[in-house]
Amino acid sequence: MTNIIIDERKTEGHINPEIYGHFSEHLGHCIYGGIYVGENSEIPNVNGMRTDVVEALKQIQVPVLRWPGGCFADEYHWMDGIGPKENRKRMINTNWGGEVEDNSFGTHEYFELCRQLGCKTYINGNLGSGTVREMSEWVEYMTFDGESSMSLLRRKNGQEEPWRVNYFGVGNENWGGGGCMTPEYYANLYRHYQTYVRVYDEKKPICRVACGPNSDDYAWTRKVLETAFYMAPAHVHGYMDAIALHYYTVPGPDWQHKGSAVDFDLQAYYTTLQKAARMEEMVKRHSRIIEEFDPEGHIGLFVDEWGCWHDVEPGTNPGFLYQQNTMRDAMVAAMTLNIFNKQCRRVKMANIAQVVNVLQSVILTDGEKMVLTPTYHVFDLYKGHQGGELLSSSIENTKQTGTGACQVAQIYESASRSQDGSITVTVVNLSAEESEKVELQFADFQPGTVNGQLLTGKMDDYNRFDQEPQVKVKALDGVEVKGKNVSFTMPPCSVVSLTL
Ligand code: AHR
Repeated sequence: MTNIIIDERKTEGHINPEIYGHFSEHLGHCIYGGIYVGENSEIPNVNGMRTDVVEALKQIQVPVLRWPGGCFADEYHWMDGIGPKENRKRMINTNWGGEVEDNSFGTHEYFELCRQLGCKTYINGNLGSGTVREMSEWVEYMTFDGESSMSLLRRKNGQEEPWRVNYFGVGNENWGGGGCMTPEYYANLYRHYQTYVRVYDEKKPICRVACGPNSDDYAWTRKVLETAFYMAPAHVHGYMDAIALHYYTVPGPDWQHKGSAVDFDLQAYYTTLQKAARMEEMVKRHSRIIEEFDPEGHIGLFVDEWGCWHDVEPGTNPGFLYQQNTMRDAMVAAMTLNIFNKQCRRVKMANIAQVVNVLQSVILTDGEKMVLTPTYHVFDLYKGHQGGELLSSSIENTKQTGTGACQVAQIYESASRSQDGSITVTVVNLSAEESEKVELQFADFQPGTVNGQLLTGKMDDYNRFDQEPQVKVKALDGVEVKGKNVSFTMPPCSVVSLTL
């Protein structure tokens, strides 16, 4: 039995809804085919956005959507994607499969998508191959309400009112695909470029995001912050509101041998979980470095790319990063989201990569068909945490699970209170073979009604096109409430969400 101690009298931070954010890149069939099919498609759509996908994403309350990349962002020239579609420039998507990008999905289409989803906007600007002027004019085009060449161009292209840009990334992975820069060089460019990310309406600030580290590159975080803070007035916090961390879980020994998304053994299952669990250490250590520069907590840590990265599905374009998604991926998502909740003092946003048809997607499409992946259901089960206050929680008797030397904590949990007073508790049992009895022990709280939901399956179960979904959410049976304690049994490889 695992005892989870929850002191509902102690709150430990605010869980930004943006922790449940998503990422969309011009990569494979994420945008084209997965989200955008064009107004003339036979697939039901509203202004070109496929209705099935938009409706499914609304159900999980997507809070923010990052766009247009990724690596693509540092080769994207926004002016190619505005104006009449027939005149839009065609370019080669050199990062992702060498496909011709016809730019039919551009700035106007992105804001239309976010309007339909009801989510915040997160634009990633081009620092790698774009100019300061280009970045500055994009911000002006999107957000300036007065009369200027950029705002007039926006109006000419059919958008009278300025849009709201909530978040703006100044480059992407500039330590790698975004220009192979050193941290000092990037940080100097960051200082330069961000100067011209103008806020035209003080009531609508733009949160500026600096390119942060690759995984456990703590030197990058420190050097970028040192350079950004150099001689900077205290109130500007190194000229940034957030710094972005990217960490992918690659099950195999290296990037050439990542391993199949669906065909794997117990050893690969636990190796994947063990690697995914490293997120906790990385978030804590990067947060400690940020803390040295910004003890008051103005700068958020955005994990704006995370998730499992497997081999592509056999027969698909290697440049499209299309992979299936099993209960193993759901376990990674459930564990990681619990980690983010518990680190919410610094982790203010996270964006799983990527929303549709690329890497650890919540949705897969094939022509007019669509499936919801096990990872989708985790986001659905966890949505009660969005905007909640994190409650103090801990596991009294942590058990390990795994094979041989590959061990990982069996249970991960988090708890929060939402504005309506209800408490959401999410628990994941990572063991592939053993069920576990779990007891929640509250300090004072005596739960009245308890609504429990369960996601479970074999570690390699997944949902296929043209078949009844194998993995779906069910009611959790057998929940017992005795005074301040709530107990239930978790099957192997399962996620539970309780609303109390
Ligand atoms: O998500 C796929 C790619 O992974 C992104 O374009 C890049 O930022 C990262 O390396």
